[in-house]
Amino acid sequence: MTLVLATHNAKKRAELARILAPLGHDLADLPLSDVEETGLIFEENARLKAESGCRETSLPCVGDDSGLCVDALDGAPGVYSARFAGTHGDDAANIAKLLDLMRGIPEERRTARFVCAVCCVFPDGKEITLRAACEGKIAFAPMGTGGFGYDPVFLPDEAPGYTMAQLSPEIKDKLSHRGKALALLAENLRLGDTAMKVIVLPDKEVIGQAAGDLISDLVSQKPDAVLGLATGSSPVPTYQRMAARHREGVSFQKVKTFNLDEYCDLPEAHENSYHTFMREQLFSHIDIQLENTHFLDGNCADEVAESERFSRAIEAAGGIDLQLLGIGSNGHIGFNEPAQAFTGEAFKVALTDSTIKDNSPNFVGSDVPMPRYAMTMGIGQILRARRIVLIATGEAKARAVQAMLEGEVTPQCPASVLQKHPDVTVYLDSAAAALLSDQPVE
Ligand code: GLP
Repeated sequence: MTLVLATHNAKKRAELARILAPLGHDLADLPLSDVEETGLIFEENARLKAESGCRETSLPCVGDDSGLCVDALDGAPGVYSARFAGTHGDDAANIAKLLDLMRGIPEERRTARFVCAVCCVFPDGKEITLRAACEGKIAFAPMGTGGFGYDPVFLPDEAPGYTMAQLSPEIKDKLSHRGKALALLAENLRLGDTAMKVIVLPDKEVIGQAAGDLISDLVSQKPDAVLGLATGSSPVPTYQRMAARHREGVSFQKVKTFNLDEYCDLPEAHENSYHTFMREQLFSHIDIQLENTHFLDGNCADEVAESERFSRAIEAAGGIDLQLLGIGSNGHIGFNEPAQAFTGEAFKVALTDSTIKDNSPNFVGSDVPMPRYAMTMGIGQILRARRIVLIATGEAKARAVQAMLEGEVTPQCPASVLQKHPDVTVYLDSAAAALLSDQPVE
């Protein structure tokens, strides 16, 4: 796709072009008017620039707004990052002001994040807005000459000991807020808008047969298929059907699986862990090799390293052929809770009150309370699956299903992002489909 980049910052422009070109997008170099950054949040400024650029060129236009949010300064300089010291884009003055304000603040309180919002506006009025962040700390003095902005005083957690300005462009693009946001955008552009296939069946057993057959047929055709698996009550009949198909001859010997999520601070072998759930509900009933089953480690010491390990393992397996999903009553998929922005790769999430309420009954009689945190695959990761099958049954899911299928695509209903995926099948019972205005045929 030919995109226009709405930025006058030459260094930022070069960086954006460097990240987007290998992702398959040509960049049109067209002169654009200046846009005043009047927004109070990054997304607003990104949208203002993209809208203006799209209006002027009639081409899809990408705008971004990025900045540094420092915890000890209550999130400042934030959207004012480029003009913190007065003149727009005076990097040296901005850094000097920041270091001055941070004087005397010890290392452990120098936590900060670079945030980037990108917005792509299309001539027909459609838009995609995404946000990504890079966590780190503020250095005591500038180091390095690469990059721009606050790069010389930002120490990303993912590159211990180095400032952003000391990293090679390849490494910076992989871990930077802008690199992550643009990779997500490219993914969304690749997917485009497509309708999801909705199938309403009489009850969860029939749904389980249909979904279980679909997965088992895939495994028959591709014995080394890579499956993304889910927990919760929704997929249980599907797993029963897969076990039945195994007894009839389908072999899962070469199949690899990746589970969506796992609770934090709960031993792997605990009766309520998702490891245990998968062993009891599926793995012990088929001939899968346990070393081919992969989970996020909810007890890992380093979430970022764990997330990277998981991404690498999925990549090494060739990507996920089919991802099975349930949906939370609040619209979550995996444990991607309603949020301000869509997530990318796996991360540690604080569970919302509604999820804690929904899932607490599973912990009644348990020796531990329900965990408050979990590790979950991110939305970007889920969207990369080649095919997605989502199951929702019961009236408690009706609202979430309506928002997912008929609402706007918003991180407030994480499942709504599935509208962007080219191959999604949604299995519903009538109770879960009850609020759909566009009633699917049973
Ligand atoms: C949990 C899981 C989700 C699942 C959801 C719905 O929160 N993390 O992956 O979709 O529960 O569960 P159920 O199918 O039991 O309604």
